[in-house]
Amino acid sequence: MTDFHAHVLPRMDDGSKSLEESKELLISTCAQGIDVICATPHFDSNIESADSFLKRRAAAHTALSESCAGLQIPRLVLGAEVSFFVGMSGNDELSSLCIGGSRCLLIEMPYFTWTAGIRTEIYSLSTNLSLIPILAHIERYPEFSSDDKLADLFEIGALLQINAEAFAFTRTRKRALELFKSGLCVLGSDCHGIKRRPQNMGAAAAVIEKALGAKRSADIFSRCDELLGT
Ligand SMILES: [Fe+2]
Repeated sequence: MTDFHAHVLPRMDDGSKSLEESKELLISTCAQGIDVICATPHFDSNIESADSFLKRRAAAHTALSESCAGLQIPRLVLGAEVSFFVGMSGNDELSSLCIGGSRCLLIEMPYFTWTAGIRTEIYSLSTNLSLIPILAHIERYPEFSSDDKLADLFEIGALLQINAEAFAFTRTRKRALELFKSGLCVLGSDCHGIKRRPQNMGAAAAVIEKALGAKRSADIFSRCDELLGT
């Protein structure tokens, strides 16, 4: 099972605050049956260049890998959670922020109803840059509840990422299961630390398995893993 969204690298953003916290987070992730964790620190093009971000990310990754030597932890795959910006579909630097060398780019979308211009920008990521947009924590946006509003995004091959917590709450659980069953979604914890927004994919996986059965849920999880070639 892959966690597609996690703020597990130390001191990169508002996630883990230290090497020790990152290490504990990775150990708790492993204990919940997760084999691969995508480290997706926030990237905001208004604040930092991709080059500077990648240098910071590489340093945080090296430090964490060294401090976890010999421990049983999930495989770490590097990516980013890219804040949506106008013009992103013309910026080929974004390929360097895709998850684990795939074409999958995790994007934090604006928190209001997406205009035609915003949707066009997402389509163009696919057509101009051949990227697969993965829209982070889809349950937080108004589009979550509408098949119609999501249909054109599916047509261009965009994927949705659902946070594990969406399976815990009754107000979102039914819809989260529906989307997950469609095979157009991936799951992420969006974990930020040991105490604040901890790893919670294990509980979500249990809800999914109970609702869909062991075989079907395992099949869907394994299709998700394949997106990253894992
Ligand atoms: Fe996040």
